[in-house]
Amino acid sequence: MTFQALSVVSEVYPLIKTGGLADVAGALPAAVAPHGVELLTLIPGYPPVMKALAQPRIVHRFNDLFGTEASLVRGTASGLEVIALDAPSLFAREGGPYSDAKGADWPDNWRRFGALGLAAAEIARGILAEYRPQLVHAHDWQGGMAPAYLRFGEGHPVPSVMTVHNIAFPGWFPPEVFPALLLPPEAFTIAGIEYFGGVGFLKAGLQTADAITTVSPTYAQEIRSKELGMGLEGVIVERQDSVHGILNGIDTSTWNPSADTHLAVPYDAKALAQREHNKRAIELGFRLTAQGGPIFCVVSRLTSQKGMDVLVEAADALVAMGGRLAVLGSGDPKLETAFKAAAARHPGGIGVRIGYDEPLSHLLQGGSDAIIIPSRFEPCGLTQLYGLRYGCVPVAARTGGLADTIIDANEAALAAGVATGFLFSEVTPEGLIAALKRAVAAYGHREVWRSLQVHGMKADFSWKRSGRAYAELYKSLIMPRRSGRA
Ligand code: ADP
Ligand code: GLC
Repeated sequence: MTFQALSVVSEVYPLIKTGGLADVAGALPAAVAPHGVELLTLIPGYPPVMKALAQPRIVHRFNDLFGTEASLVRGTASGLEVIALDAPSLFAREGGPYSDAKGADWPDNWRRFGALGLAAAEIARGILAEYRPQLVHAHDWQGGMAPAYLRFGEGHPVPSVMTVHNIAFPGWFPPEVFPALLLPPEAFTIAGIEYFGGVGFLKAGLQTADAITTVSPTYAQEIRSKELGMGLEGVIVERQDSVHGILNGIDTSTWNPSADTHLAVPYDAKALAQREHNKRAIELGFRLTAQGGPIFCVVSRLTSQKGMDVLVEAADALVAMGGRLAVLGSGDPKLETAFKAAAARHPGGIGVRIGYDEPLSHLLQGGSDAIIIPSRFEPCGLTQLYGLRYGCVPVAARTGGLADTIIDANEAALAAGVATGFLFSEVTPEGLIAALKRAVAAYGHREVWRSLQVHGMKADFSWKRSGRAYAELYKSLIMPRRSGRA
């Protein structure tokens, strides 16, 4: 059986990316394709998206989508089948996908992503003669209104899946926006899209989708708790029978150390010595002139979720134990300043690059000895998976997807030869420093270190298993409806 589904998402690699969501949305169509699913991607028509579309065709015009003219433009880009919601008044702006150049959220985000959700539901209702998906798959709060428009709209809607990549972003808007969303009054209830007195786009999706997924089994459990459920734990617990934890995969062609053009020298598990050339390139680029010790890297949004304040506090100790640190990231201005100050305190020992740099992120994975990921919570995390595949040993907090994908180098795991990294439970400077010490000690034993690298590189984090899991979930939702209607 083959069928068509529509992925509704606000970023997709390589067209537009601010984080792991884009990587996942970009890889999903190819992951489910072998299982008979043709997955198209509906995405806002941001300038780089419109520019990337090859042979664009206008397949529908809305005269008035929340007060603006808009059209659906179908095309291909970097091997992806895309439908762009081209609405220049909403999306043709300088700045990021969610915020302006200064980092302030666009005030009309409810309208921008409400429009995206409504467009998805209209497509599912059949406004395009050439394409009618049998299922809608929404991602995060930006896609969250798609299942709601299906549920509260006319007719027999197709089933929907809501994937939570990060429950910490609720997509909350004040109650005044509700009338403009054009939903029936009964939608503005606790069993609908009402959330803390206003409208919650993620809550909307969680309430109305037929199934909920999140991006690792551990996070699927964690969001049931008050601590990590961020106010949505009630919905998650209530809908527990419909919640699935499906681990993200990685795109093994984009992230392949033996064919990565961003590296100074490619390598594989049999030629690990080649990594030295990449390490030299990092030493040069980050001015890490201090001799000898392992290079720890960071490739991250600089935020409190990622525990970057904890790393700032542990940085002096890291240098004192003989480690060096290369940081690539951007985010909270206070953290950016704090990392720059740490680099100034330790010339030759700490190097910092503030910004977003895809090629450099590959080089760091391909040449650093270890990657530090001290997240307070981490729905899945991709940088540890890239690290594992690149022989860049992760030192990470024991949470979410990090706990699911890294095997801690405790004595038993080392003896069994299965360890792949270092996990720590207390996200505090002390907790992190203790893990860094273990890593530095292991680095001193060549064979131990080599075994960590090789086991990580051998682990399979491709999309094979998860692609099948998503396809099976889709089928389980489509089949009953089909037979129900027959
Ligand atoms: P999140 O989505 O929460 O930021 P993930 O680990 O899932 O975390 O994904 C982060 C993605 O963004 C990875 O592909 C990582 O390599 C990339 N990334 C993060 N910061 C940077 C940066 N400063 N430069 C380049 N790539 C980055
Ligand atoms: C979110 C999460 C991250 C996850 C990514 C892709 O950004 O913070 O942990 O890997 O989504 O699912």
